[in-house]
Amino acid sequence: MLKEKTMPTTEMATLTLRGQTYEFPVTVGTENEIAIDISALRKKTGVVTLDYGYMNTGACESAITFLDGEKGVLRYRGYPVEELAKNSRFVEVAYLLINGHMPNEIERVQWSSLLNSHSMMHEDMRHLFYQYPEHSHPMAILSAMVVSLSTYYPELSQHRPDEPEEAITIAATRLMSKVRTIAAFSYKKSIGEPFVYPRHDLKYCANFLNMMFSSPVCPYEIRPEVVQALNVLLILHADHEQNCSTAAVRLVGSARVNLYAAVGAGICALWGPLHGGANQMVVDMLEEIQRSGQGVRSYVDLVKASKGKMLLYGFGHRVYKNYDPRAKIIKKCCHDMLKALQIHDPLLDIALELEQLAMSDDYFTERNLYPNVDFYSGIIYRAIGIPKEMFTVMFALGRLPGWIAQWKEAREDPRFKLQRPRQIYVGPNMRLMNDADKTREI
Ligand code: CMC
Repeated sequence: MLKEKTMPTTEMATLTLRGQTYEFPVTVGTENEIAIDISALRKKTGVVTLDYGYMNTGACESAITFLDGEKGVLRYRGYPVEELAKNSRFVEVAYLLINGHMPNEIERVQWSSLLNSHSMMHEDMRHLFYQYPEHSHPMAILSAMVVSLSTYYPELSQHRPDEPEEAITIAATRLMSKVRTIAAFSYKKSIGEPFVYPRHDLKYCANFLNMMFSSPVCPYEIRPEVVQALNVLLILHADHEQNCSTAAVRLVGSARVNLYAAVGAGICALWGPLHGGANQMVVDMLEEIQRSGQGVRSYVDLVKASKGKMLLYGFGHRVYKNYDPRAKIIKKCCHDMLKALQIHDPLLDIALELEQLAMSDDYFTERNLYPNVDFYSGIIYRAIGIPKEMFTVMFALGRLPGWIAQWKEAREDPRFKLQRPRQIYVGPNMRLMNDADKTREI
């Protein structure tokens, strides 16, 4: 259930429309975010709101993540993301998001053993990987496989409002654990190597790295700096309130589909280059600058001259109008990681120059375009050995607990309604077919 509620207020907002005045209640969140509750707008006035991209529309109350885009603040269940990234492991943060509190010692052991016991996939699912053509994008495979889980684990495939808590916990654990296995298998399939099964003696991130990079002929050395960097990256991606993919999970979930189908929708939304797919686009862009030899300045000039047709990927955010706090941590993590592994990546030099140029250019500063979470993450993934086609899969792995937590919160909210926006019709008025329009022969 929603742990916090909006504070009751008697404040009202007044709307004057065509000479008539209407009043709507004002709602205030626990961080003093103010909203006008227009649930009764159409009933009272007969009109609807129009808000492309939902720039000003709150679709729910949520007690999971707080984000202040002006101040660059991000907290999960009240904890600053900086503190979580420094002191926690990804699975603990996943537990926090899904259950609302940090796990105690007993809960940590139980959660870990549940994740272990659900890490294998049904063996028949392995064959599905072989049906995809070579070079299939792993996001296509991931989304299809996640939805397919509902056929192998059908318990939650029908919506039941009184579903026991335990069934939901099992489905959530299955997803958390199996998506990691699916991600690693899709990589192995893409390079034509045999699958490596999960191991119970390894923790979540180390297990993933082992499934990705070990092979029957060459064991993988799990370096603690790499495990640590992966934990940090996954934590920083774990939730971000009502972003595009989470909104997709809630919207599709509102039709009361099962958790696997709702998360599948989230994965598809995340794939887009304006959302999670931007991490792959950033490295494509840096490689293009490197390959063309055109120099960073001329690339930036091209972006500016294109009037929105070309983007500086990894820059800009719908909510952050300041430096994305996640990008700050990732930039530092990127430097530390490359130093520890003694790697010099020329793409990092290009990225740093790009940031410096953009940050001193009116075009970007006037529009509040700062590096976002996707700008430096790809350079860390490259250093780890993860190919760029897998970057968005990594984002999905990180965002999964957020999707689960948001789906769970939505279904427990008695106000969770089928999400069905209105529109303003601007097409032709009623007209009749003329004789030439009518089909004479079938
Ligand atoms: N490069 C160049 N110009 C940009 C960029 C960019 N990355 N982002 C926005 N602009 C310009 C845009 O053309 C517009 O200019 P004008 O006012 O002259 O028309 C202005 O800035 C406002 O942009 P907008 O598209 O109205 O802003 P938005 O809130 O709708 O877009 C965004 C947010 C993330 C879609 C956008 O900044 C973007 O496309 N960024 C690049 C893709 C990217 O890195 N996405 C990852 C976002 S963070 C991870 C996640 O949570 O998804």
